[in-house]
Amino acid sequence: MQAIAKMILFGEHSVVYGKKALAIPIKELKLKVKKQKEKIYQNEHLEYIKGLLNIKEYIKVKSTIPISRGLGSSAALAISLARLEGADVEEISKLSEIKAHGNPSGIDTAVILNEKALIFEKGKNNIYLDVDLGGYIVIIDTGIMSSTKEAVDMVKNLNRMDIIDELGNITEKAIIKIKEKDIYSVGKLMNKAQFNLRKLKLSNTFLDKIIKKANYNSLGTKITGSGLGGCIISLCKSKTQAKKLIKNILKEGIENYWIVKV
Ligand code: MEV
Repeated sequence: MQAIAKMILFGEHSVVYGKKALAIPIKELKLKVKKQKEKIYQNEHLEYIKGLLNIKEYIKVKSTIPISRGLGSSAALAISLARLEGADVEEISKLSEIKAHGNPSGIDTAVILNEKALIFEKGKNNIYLDVDLGGYIVIIDTGIMSSTKEAVDMVKNLNRMDIIDELGNITEKAIIKIKEKDIYSVGKLMNKAQFNLRKLKLSNTFLDKIIKKANYNSLGTKITGSGLGGCIISLCKSKTQAKKLIKNILKEGIENYWIVKV
């Protein structure tokens, strides 16, 4: 049984405070689980989900989704295990996300479960959206593991509702521009979102450096997911531009990246 990854285009963190967010599935990255009898190391989170599902066997996890990088690996694990058991996938993923993150908005579960681009708002029905900008997103793995719980707690302690409101406004504008297929405005809004996410202290010197480099060959770049490390996404108007961007960031020690058509 398997589940895919996700990336948040707009609205991470502000989504926790009831603002809209926009996320898309990453079908290129997958996590697969299967039962086996031979003993194999099971981490604490896997044991927790197994406990929820009353799984007694060992679980072998095979995954191309990097762990703790904002691409939804923990929700993908819960969803694939719940699918394996024919359990209530949404409920299991919700409980597992609460255990892992404390106060999850539910966006990871929504996108990974539905495998569709969507506008997510806490407590409301998902709105499916056609994302067809004629461009490419380069997902850059900074190699830095980040804790969603730590990032969400940090934002809570900062208590900057003015920035959260601004991030909410940026998402509203981005939804309009995505519907209009205006890739240039979407890129500008990504930079604007990053400016605000940085004000929430979710970036760092290394991320800032990679984002600056990526922006030589892209329309806009921002963190995706919780920040403090994890992955950066950069919007390019063509594959040629994406390849140039990759060439540049490889010089900065980046090892993993993926290109997704949007
Ligand atoms: C994590 O993928 C996105 C955050 O907004 C947390 C959440 O929505 O639960 C940082």
